Amino acid sequence: MQPPVVLASLKLCEYKLQGSTIIMGKKTLKKFEDTVKFLQEQYPHPPQVGIVLGSGLGSFVEEIIIEKEVAYEDIPHFPLSTVEGHKSKLLFGKLSGKTVVAMAGRFHFYEGYKARDIVFPIRVMKLLGVETLLLSNAAGGVNPAFTVGDIMIIKDHISLFTPNPLIGKNRAEFGPRFPDMSEPYKKHLIEKARAIAILHNFVLKEGVYLAVTGPTFETRAEYQLIHTLGADVVGMSTVQESIVANHMGMEVFAISVVTDVGIREQDNIITHEEVLEAARHAEPKLATIFKELVAAI
Ligand code: HPA
Repeated sequence: MQPPVVLASLKLCEYKLQGSTIIMGKKTLKKFEDTVKFLQEQYPHPPQVGIVLGSGLGSFVEEIIIEKEVAYEDIPHFPLSTVEGHKSKLLFGKLSGKTVVAMAGRFHFYEGYKARDIVFPIRVMKLLGVETLLLSNAAGGVNPAFTVGDIMIIKDHISLFTPNPLIGKNRAEFGPRFPDMSEPYKKHLIEKARAIAILHNFVLKEGVYLAVTGPTFETRAEYQLIHTLGADVVGMSTVQESIVANHMGMEVFAISVVTDVGIREQDNIITHEEVLEAARHAEPKLATIFKELVAAI
């Protein structure tokens, strides 16, 4: 009998299968099986790189030579994105000569999903073959030196205010119970991104991303606290995806576009429209980094 798709793509699983000790619950396993099998039927080439596009950053898909588009609503067990500015499609194709899969639209905790649903597509990406994950997001700046439109490499994150997606029974087939998080964003990818920015003569900030649940933007006091805690930007995504990607042994690189600044003198308010607009404006820089990074992987 052929091992199921998911088991076949993970050596440890194969071993477990032969030893007849499948740790993963049958129902969970079946969900991954269905999704991976469905997507492999849609697009038979294993993607090497996975890309997640944040709010207002969806036009990056124009850089990809798209060979197959699959709407989330057609993918078994995929959640549906409910946020304006997110397109809700999985795109397969070529970027800088590599086979990639991109999520145009991601899932957020504030939409009401459980943490494990938010990260379901990330695990699926790994099971399809993805080794490197590129994440992007719109974020609020709390470092007073940051201004709207800045691009920041995420060097580290603070995940203490959002549920950890690994809470619950650990899937040993996927990764360790207590994963090391000393290098959640790979240094060698960060170094490559720095070189790309120098080559193109634009400034790339670097810093710490703190994740919150949203959907409220922060109060002034909260922005101040977040800065005091050691963060440079704050946002409502990315960290749960990064944790799961690290759990499964993927190499992660992530970038924030600063779409608003929290610590400010003015009495202005922050709106989602303003966030989308600022992200769209900064998107070409992000595109350059992602394209050239993929070429260099
Ligand atoms: N706070 C949280 N999330 C965000 C922000 C912000 O200021 N801007 C964009 N996403």
